[in-house]
Amino acid sequence: MSAPRVFVARAIPARVRDLLRSACDLDVHDGPDDLPRPMLLARVAPADALISVLTTRVDPELLDAAPRLRVVANIAVGYDNIDLAAAAARGLVVTNTPDVLTESVADFTVGLIFAMTRRIAEGDRLVRAGGWRGWALDFMLGSGLRGKQLGIVGLGRIGRAVSARAGVFGLEIVFADAAVGVGETVPAGARRLSLDELFASADIVSIHVPLTDATRHLVNARRIGLMKPSAYLVNTARGPVVDEAALADALRAGRIAGAALDVYEREPVVHPGLLGLENVVLAPHLGSATTETRTAMAELAARNVLAVLRGDPPLTGVSPVPSGSRHAPGSA
Ligand code: DGY
Repeated sequence: MSAPRVFVARAIPARVRDLLRSACDLDVHDGPDDLPRPMLLARVAPADALISVLTTRVDPELLDAAPRLRVVANIAVGYDNIDLAAAAARGLVVTNTPDVLTESVADFTVGLIFAMTRRIAEGDRLVRAGGWRGWALDFMLGSGLRGKQLGIVGLGRIGRAVSARAGVFGLEIVFADAAVGVGETVPAGARRLSLDELFASADIVSIHVPLTDATRHLVNARRIGLMKPSAYLVNTARGPVVDEAALADALRAGRIAGAALDVYEREPVVHPGLLGLENVVLAPHLGSATTETRTAMAELAARNVLAVLRGDPPLTGVSPVPSGSRHAPGSA
């Protein structure tokens, strides 16, 4: 029997290619950009497995173009790029890469908190532009963290990992997450607030929810309007959770003190209203971007593919294996 075919939508590390080649016929798109859609559909057509990234739109059109597909393994913890219902209707297994990126994203979130509250990126721009005239007691003052309140929106793995770091800096934790059940363990000292209470109370609001219909523009003009003029917003989750136009308006008018974004509504496009502002730090979706973490993400996706092709359950599936699935035990 011929080896199952795996198509990988973007470059992956050599070690992960070797792992996949041990059991599969491998096709990897190595270009610097995503494949144009018609080429993507053609390349995925003969595949038994697709390893996608967060910019691979996995919708009915793609799934119909690849009738042999049994598994879509996303190299990301978020999977808003995948139409789960369409995948389930076709009997496909969908997987993501939780846990392996939690610490990296939490570290990066803390980095962005410092970059915005201590004006690190702004200071870097000033020095490079030759605008630094020397030390002064009142020069480029930022905002300290000790005794301030960090508001975590979404107390999942990453939200918890951020709150675990916050104590070191003397931050008090409040959180809003309807999915955290009464009696469920929460970080020591953390207080639950409603979403609106959190926006009104926190000195720093940090977003850690997945993108769903319910969370799209959760940070809208009304909620930004609840924030204190001294407060900051940081988003390392998904861009469309924040209404960028509303955020740009608030930052320009000084209605909040600052923001740091790693994710955007239409990546890689950034709302033009944000680009000229000094009080926003703009990172190019780097939350999980360490060599170690990205390798671990790709490897977990590959192991998910190999498990499903072998007929085993996925390691980190995001949907139950539907009945009548194309998941064929023992076929790889
Ligand atoms: C994820 O895993 O969802 C991240 O955004 C990828 O960097």
